[in-house]
Amino acid sequence: MNVPHIKTELPGPKAKAIIERDRAVVSPSYTRGYPFVMQRGSGAVVEDVDGNVFLDCAAGIAVTSTGHSHPDVVAAITEQASRFLHMSGTDFYYEPQVKLAEELAAVAPIDGAVRSFFGNSGTEAVEACIKLSRYATRRDNIIAFLGAFHGRTLGALSLTASKAIQRRGFGPMMPGVFHAPFADCYRCRLGLKPATCAAECLDYIEDEIFLHLVSPDEVAAIVLEPIQGEGGYVVAPDQFLQRLRELTSKYGILMVVDEVQSGMGRTGRMFAIEHAGVRPDMIAIAKGVASGMPLGVALARADIMDTWPPGAHASTFGGNPVSCAAAIATMKLLKERLMANAADVGAYLMSGLRALGEKHALIGDVRGRGLMIGVELVRDRQTKERAGRQRDAVVSKAFGRGLLVLGAGANSIRLSPPLVLMRDQADTAVSIVDETLTEVESGGVS
Ligand SMILES: Cc1ncc(COP(=O)(O)O)c(C=O)c1O
Repeated sequence: MNVPHIKTELPGPKAKAIIERDRAVVSPSYTRGYPFVMQRGSGAVVEDVDGNVFLDCAAGIAVTSTGHSHPDVVAAITEQASRFLHMSGTDFYYEPQVKLAEELAAVAPIDGAVRSFFGNSGTEAVEACIKLSRYATRRDNIIAFLGAFHGRTLGALSLTASKAIQRRGFGPMMPGVFHAPFADCYRCRLGLKPATCAAECLDYIEDEIFLHLVSPDEVAAIVLEPIQGEGGYVVAPDQFLQRLRELTSKYGILMVVDEVQSGMGRTGRMFAIEHAGVRPDMIAIAKGVASGMPLGVALARADIMDTWPPGAHASTFGGNPVSCAAAIATMKLLKERLMANAADVGAYLMSGLRALGEKHALIGDVRGRGLMIGVELVRDRQTKERAGRQRDAVVSKAFGRGLLVLGAGANSIRLSPPLVLMRDQADTAVSIVDETLTEVESGGVS
């Protein structure tokens, strides 16, 4: 099939009609950047309701890790659905939940035995980590980072510090949350090398937060994304993560990594934190874990989760058997082939995008790991002034040319395709980004 293939104006007539109906009845809080109305998908290719065919480098916000409707995942879902859909793993037992917990424990980069708590979403996985941190340490306070996105339920939202609109009007937030600067080397105001930039950010915790605001023996956890997702695909330098581990160990603070977006093979390793050789105490996962079925998991050192007595925390739908079956099939595919593909095609896509930097002054930075790649657009490479409107224009014009990408942060384009993306599809993505940048640069978006 010719991909992409756009045969109607966008949105087409059927898409238009559905969007009209949506406008009347669906929450206006959703951030739809362009009018894509899904009909079906396979691998990294999606078709809209009017028969237009797109290359998908968004994957439903980094979710459909094995591609759309991978036959092995669909078979696992169908088989499980035909036996039973729900029984609540909180009050009864079923094998798919146990098997998934065993498989996750075998791969999680956490010391000693590992336990899983099952929810339905990223925010619930983070919420479980917050509650468990407080419970196990008997400390109240949490440190998170500016630019972070941890979800939208009120506990997780209190850690989120990505865009003010996400918090606006919802206060007061959960008390006891302090935000530190994240080691964003591209935007480092002091122009420091990664190791020094990492040290500066962490000194802020010791010299400012611990000195002026909260004593470390009252801090339950430091929560962070190894690669900030929604905040702009900002990769934490290894030294930052390693020093953070030292700092948390020094004060008996738990290190919680939010791998809701970066986990499950996306970066070419099962977990992004593995690139830095760091072993945290807890990991939150969701998005890619079940290829699109709702599932969130808080993974924790067993000795920490063992502090919870029955009744301390639970979720009716969490660890739904159909989602667990999908996750088991997903993990098999990741281990067999897709993690390696993410590393290989990710490096290939990254070098193609980096090469565009020689041609397009709008590109300030291209960064990421595996198939988690951000392209930051700037109006001026010296001042790094953010090119937010140009970014929005690139995202929407890429849609017009048949490529689905999303924005991240104020001025980055995020490429988070299904991990089945092939090299020729990566070439197509690079060409469309190239053409779109040319159009935006010459079209006077200012
Ligand atoms: C790093 C991270 N944590 C948490 C969340 C929240 O996940 P959910 O939308 O499934 O609640 C997201 C979602 O984008 C995320 O990227």
